[in-house]
Amino acid sequence: MLFASDCRSFPERAKRQISSPRQPSGESLSLVRAAGSPSYNKQTFQAHVRTAFAWSCATPARPEEKSILATIEVPRDLDAILDAAWEAARNVPGYLMESEARLLGTIAACAPTTGAIVEIGSFKGKSTVMLAKVAAHYGLGNIVAIDPHNSPELLDPAASSFQDFLNNIETAGVSSHVEVHRAYSQDVSSGWNRPIRFLWIDGDHTYQGAKTDFDGFFPHVLPTGVVALHDALNVFSGPIRVFVEDILRSDEFGAAGFVHSIAWSQFRPRDGKLFHRQRAQLERVAERLIPFVKDDQALHGLTKLRFKLNRSRVPRKAVRPQEWVSLLNRAPQA
Ligand SMILES: C[S@@+](CC[C@H](N)C(=O)[O-])C[C@H]1O[C@@H](n2cnc3c(N)ncnc32)[C@H](O)[C@@H]1O
Repeated sequence: MLFASDCRSFPERAKRQISSPRQPSGESLSLVRAAGSPSYNKQTFQAHVRTAFAWSCATPARPEEKSILATIEVPRDLDAILDAAWEAARNVPGYLMESEARLLGTIAACAPTTGAIVEIGSFKGKSTVMLAKVAAHYGLGNIVAIDPHNSPELLDPAASSFQDFLNNIETAGVSSHVEVHRAYSQDVSSGWNRPIRFLWIDGDHTYQGAKTDFDGFFPHVLPTGVVALHDALNVFSGPIRVFVEDILRSDEFGAAGFVHSIAWSQFRPRDGKLFHRQRAQLERVAERLIPFVKDDQALHGLTKLRFKLNRSRVPRKAVRPQEWVSLLNRAPQA
């Protein structure tokens, strides 16, 4: 029996829950979740995931082992499920482009581990609906949706997004798939003790806010899970700084990228080093944005133009599920 005790940043309680026979080194592991496959069910998937996780933590990272430890197959019906989820989410007021919503759905469906999907910042429920539709279809558990819904800057109860949020998740038919926390993220993270497969940060975009969200929940993200931050390419200091400083510069993370304004990366404490060069390339273009957004102030004139010029150097086009999964599966030379 192997206990995944060598995974840093992994909560003790979750470590004790996961054990699995060691896999032969270099062998690729197929994590098949094709919906409609007669042999697939939730237990099978969870057993695969436990094995994938334990293996990713246990396999020695020898230089010749450049193969990626888990091969994820995209569910056959994912495109159709993303279409349906976006159809439900598109008319919900909010701040999410279609390409971003599809990325969220893809991550929720394909992140190769177990645990909760945690959303910080729900507003009226646009991303909540997108995630919950996908999670409901694949039996991934409830979306943990955290938001005080109190328009913190305005302190105006009449401006609360809460009733609209409840109405929108009800209309989308996902109320029973959302765990609602009408609370500040730090009040939830202080008592949080569950493993996380996907941490979606879209709350307070100041540096202190985003850093607090990341520090509060990241210790619970499982190896091979994913962290994503919204508005990393807009004029906010938090998401881009956390992404560059805590993620792109860390060898505990693997593949990373941007889609529109979402920055995402996979947590790979065991073999993230293999992705060092890819992260460093992204870091070089992304870090140039930090001085422009450090004060969280709107930009004007020449400064705005220079910001946009620098931002244009950051690759951020939409990705299809198969492309996204192949980024995770393929280790570029470090
Ligand atoms: C950009 S909106 C979220 C948009 C939403 N994800 C969507 O898809 O439309 C930011 C939200 O974060 C919430 N927020 C601000 N500070 C927060 C905090 N400390 N914890 C949780 N939510 C917070 C705000 O109330 C607001 O509703």
